[in-house]
Amino acid sequence: MKKLFAVLMLAMMPVLSFASEQGVQLDKVDIDVSDKAALQDGARTFANYCMGCHSAKFQRYERVADDLGIPHDVMLKNLVFTGAKIGDHMNIGMQPEDAKAWFGAAPPDLTLVARVRGTDWLYSYLRSFYEDPSRPWGVNNTVFPNVGMPNVLAPLQGRQVIGCKQVQIVEDGKKQYDPLTGTPLTHEACDQLTVLPKTGTLTEEQFDEKIKNLVTFLAYSANPVKLEHQRIGTYVLLYLAFFFVFAYLLKREYWKDVH
Ligand code: HEC
Repeated sequence: MKKLFAVLMLAMMPVLSFASEQGVQLDKVDIDVSDKAALQDGARTFANYCMGCHSAKFQRYERVADDLGIPHDVMLKNLVFTGAKIGDHMNIGMQPEDAKAWFGAAPPDLTLVARVRGTDWLYSYLRSFYEDPSRPWGVNNTVFPNVGMPNVLAPLQGRQVIGCKQVQIVEDGKKQYDPLTGTPLTHEACDQLTVLPKTGTLTEEQFDEKIKNLVTFLAYSANPVKLEHQRIGTYVLLYLAFFFVFAYLLKREYWKDVH
């Protein structure tokens, strides 16, 4: 019975995640999981800002260190805060029951979240927290309405608020300008997010880059063998091309007396 339930839940997952996406425009992000610098920065952000609540328990510190080119001692000093050993899984100390009482929902394990939600969703979600005094943590999220997670990145991003503002008109993906004066054409749009200037330690571009790196790390974590696949795939194709020559010669040999 439990198994059946689990299978049903799995089958429902895409439907559920779809349901929460309805109506929001996700920002696209172009990530590169072979970018070691981005991965390292993402791993650092993950350890510092996310692992207080979220585990990545299907992943070991050692594997991450090796894949990302981080020496083990540096990894232990800068990314491991739980006294775990290098070969341990990336678990956390927080108990799910406590977490549920504090946040209303237990923070899910994030090892595979990039597969469930997709990178565009993650990139948009992490940049879409805004101030909402009616919520227990004082924040809400346009991508995940009434989310139980506090805005842990607010010190970096600054205070983001929601409201109406003038936004540039975009038609067919092109920003519109007044043909005579060259000034941007705008219209008033509501439910728009704005970061109050000078309230965070990063600029908007720097913050977007930080989140992009974090999402790159989550994408790597959800599929750590992807790089390996691409490397092996190249060899397989080269081998097939090489083998084709001999297969062709052999075929010619076999068929040469058949007329
Ligand atoms: C203070 C605890 C806390 C911290 C720190 C935290 N989160 Fe969360 N997070 C939560 C809780 C609680 C939820 C569940 C929200 C809900 O279901 O309403 C959540 C949900 C999420 C989800 C949605 C998962 C899903 O598919 O439903 C993602 C993605 C996520 N967090 C990413 C992050 C990342 C990335 C960081 C680090 C920058 C982070 N979180 C830091 C508490 C936290």
